[in-house]
Amino acid sequence: MKHVLILIALAGAALHAQDRGPDKVRATVERQQTIRQYQLEREGKAFRLTLKTVPRPTATAPGQVLVRVRATSLNQRDLLVMRGQYGAGGGGDMNGHMPLSDGAGDVIAVANGTRRFKVGDRVAGTFFMRWNDGPRTPEVAASARGGGNIDGMLSEVVVAHEDTLVRIPNHLTFEEAATLPCAGVTAYRALFVDGALKKGQFVLLEGTGGVSMFGLQLAAAAGARPIITSSSDEKLERAKKLGAAGTVNYRTNENWQREVRTLTGNAGVSHVLEVGGRDTLPKALEALAFEGHIALIGGLSGFASDVPVGRLMGLGASATGIYVGSRADFEALNRFLTEHKIRPVVDRAFSFEEAAKAYEFMDNGSYFGKIVIRVGG
Ligand SMILES: NC(=O)c1ccc[n+]([C@@H]2O[C@H](COP(=O)([O-])OP(=O)(O)OC[C@H]3O[C@@H](n4cnc5c(N)ncnc54)[C@H](OP(=O)(O)O)[C@@H]3O)[C@@H](O)[C@H]2O)c1
Repeated sequence: MKHVLILIALAGAALHAQDRGPDKVRATVERQQTIRQYQLEREGKAFRLTLKTVPRPTATAPGQVLVRVRATSLNQRDLLVMRGQYGAGGGGDMNGHMPLSDGAGDVIAVANGTRRFKVGDRVAGTFFMRWNDGPRTPEVAASARGGGNIDGMLSEVVVAHEDTLVRIPNHLTFEEAATLPCAGVTAYRALFVDGALKKGQFVLLEGTGGVSMFGLQLAAAAGARPIITSSSDEKLERAKKLGAAGTVNYRTNENWQREVRTLTGNAGVSHVLEVGGRDTLPKALEALAFEGHIALIGGLSGFASDVPVGRLMGLGASATGIYVGSRADFEALNRFLTEHKIRPVVDRAFSFEEAAKAYEFMDNGSYFGKIVIRVGG
């Protein structure tokens, strides 16, 4: 792996629970005195991934819930965290903390005074632990799981306050549900909360990564017309099957924004989920329609720093900075997924022992949608 040094240092007591029934597995976990979890260990400016055996956490304070994590998923942010390049979230040091914001599992114990969940419920963690609803506050930004100095989900068991969990849709596996907290909520928020997407509108999605694939599936289900770009014709063919109304290869077509405009009958797209950053933002703006909305999300090619004010003014367009979303957004996403029976696109699921390989795969590999790490059985 290019940038990330990973060492698997300690192997602990294995669960070996994959082929047991859920009740038996839960009973086994409840009897266990120790669990395994990955922690980040500082190595220069970056971190390495270290497997530790630690005492099993308990849910004791009112509202606390013990979750047996069944799957987690990776985001670009997790690579930045590992490289020591993730500055958001109020600073802090991830040394000794568990990585990965995204995870799903089942509730195995609840403390007294817990109202929202009971043992057996299937849940996922919210990206922010302090953003239930309404506007963002300074406390929200400093409460993101798996960054700053806040534990993430790469652990066999985590303890969480019930306000930081949501129920996951019944039709999803844990692996699928583990992809929702960051990429899924971001795409939902960009399209429906900040973007107010309407039926029939054109939506531009850049590349076939996590946020864009959610954007594609959500926009198509809402009756909008998603146009997606990719460096791969094969991926574009797959995207068509998931509802893309138009596709453009940005590698073989340098001026892909013109092709995008042509696909809209020259009117332009009403929404952009801007994940590419420096290389894509100027082109995406060329493809934008009058009164269009551009959701500023990512910086896959480096973050864009110049705001083309004249272009935005001329179009009467708006741009919103997106930072995932609230618990209410996550719950709304889950209702939408349930109503439309949408299943997230999981490219590959790695075992818990292969966690380092999952990071490598994200760093070096070519994937379509999301990368998952399975945890408990
Ligand atoms: N603000 C937020 O709340 C938020 C939330 C989530 C993610 N993000 C950010 O949004 C970006 C995307 O995240 P993600 O999780 O969707 O990433 P991802 O899953 O890793 O997406 C990778 C894919 O993006 C495409 N891509 C890479 N460079 C590109 C470029 N220069 N132009 C167009 N497409 C390009 C490639 O697709 P093809 O192989 O098809 O070419 C690649 O496979 C990242 O910068 C991430 O940090 C921000």
